[in-house]
Amino acid sequence: MNDGNAAARVIQDLRGAVAAAAMGSRLPSVRVLTARHQASPVTVAAAIRALVREGLVETRPGQGTYVSRRAAAVGPAPDLSWQTVALGAGRPGEEELQALLATPPTGAIPLSGGYLEPELQPTTALGAALARVARQPAAWQRGPAEGRADLRAWFAGQVGLRADDMVICPGGQAALSSALRALASPGDTLLVESPTYLGALAAARAAGLRVVPVPADADGVRPDQLAAVFARTGARLFYCQPLHANPTGASLAGGRRGGVLSAVREAGAFLIEDDYARDLTIDGEPAPPLARDDADGHVIYLRSLTKSAAPGLRIAAIGARGPAAARLRAVRLLDELFVAGPLQQAALEFVTSPAWDRHRRHLRTALRARRDALLAALRTCPEVKVSTIPRGGLHLWVRLPDGLDDVAVAAAAASEGVIVFPGRPWFAAEAPASYLRLTYAAAPPDLMDGAVRRLSAAITASS
Ligand SMILES: Cc1ncc(COP(=O)(O)O)c(C=O)c1O
Repeated sequence: MNDGNAAARVIQDLRGAVAAAAMGSRLPSVRVLTARHQASPVTVAAAIRALVREGLVETRPGQGTYVSRRAAAVGPAPDLSWQTVALGAGRPGEEELQALLATPPTGAIPLSGGYLEPELQPTTALGAALARVARQPAAWQRGPAEGRADLRAWFAGQVGLRADDMVICPGGQAALSSALRALASPGDTLLVESPTYLGALAAARAAGLRVVPVPADADGVRPDQLAAVFARTGARLFYCQPLHANPTGASLAGGRRGGVLSAVREAGAFLIEDDYARDLTIDGEPAPPLARDDADGHVIYLRSLTKSAAPGLRIAAIGARGPAAARLRAVRLLDELFVAGPLQQAALEFVTSPAWDRHRRHLRTALRARRDALLAALRTCPEVKVSTIPRGGLHLWVRLPDGLDDVAVAAAAASEGVIVFPGRPWFAAEAPASYLRLTYAAAPPDLMDGAVRRLSAAITASS
């Protein structure tokens, strides 16, 4: 069953129901829609969210979906079903990415989302920097396509690369998507840790790549397995998060760094190092990026400021050398021409001001409080097993009892008023067990007990 078609059917069904019902009427439940359209709860939830965004329906945590008060003002729904035929099959992974970015319903506790909660974002300092630079006419002019030289120098200095090796991008997702298209062609194989960031899986599939998982554990990817999978597949590209990986929180152990780099070298391959969590270490000091140990241009380094500061600070950089760098520049030019000047300048002002270090120090304490509060709350919910206690990052990766369906538990949790993300979409192949990703950075510590109580109720309801 194609999920894109299923979503279109659910939306069409709900539009019809809204048109026929009075304001405030209750609409069919997720369970009913799931059965009626042979759609997964994730698909149904995404369809409902699309109609919430249009203002047609509203969700009430724990109660259901209702015709919104604004819907009455909207005329009859246009028939857009022809588009489903014209567009053909949906692309795998994109729907999960949309679900990941969905705004949580009012009143629900967000243990999902992937960014810092607003209270932890340095928006005052960012706003002041942006207001200052926006008044300078030069900031609005076209700059170098690869980004401002001073901002590239700042990113390069962080990792020990040359400023000339860096290209500024509008966020990590754009950087990743460009890198995959620059370094591989449709039909090529991409190796990934298992599990891995679902946005990387979606971008790889959209680029027509075949994705092959490599086993990883609490110490990161296993070098022996990586070498074996390179040999078996002939792959030339490996996407890796060595520090506080999303979703598991695992970091690559010091003893594995050499093995990973030599497996990549021996395969004549590239390693895309997604260093998204460089500023999010809670315990100890982070290991240096792998790019620092790479003499011969195998590592493509990627760092974004969106996780460290605010999702709206859509500034990232990719570092690459040699012909790979030239390919990357060419793809970036096609994708974007260049990144907004005022945002680049504001980012530079912020990361080179004393506010940056103050913010990172505060973040460490605040993230520790949130992680530890969630871990403490989870002790009252023995059904859920924490896989690795992360030493940084934004997420906990937890295992559900055997036989429980992660997607159903996440849907039940949403009905109880806590938003969590199912584990399945983070695997390139079959999930070996049932997991959830719980984002501790997205809610204040005093909400963690309540969040786990709601999650526990959802698990009981799904058992
Ligand atoms: C591991 C990882 N890489 C990249 C991204 C993309 O983030 P952004 O485009 O906001 O920089 C994300 C976002 O969730 C992520 O988790």
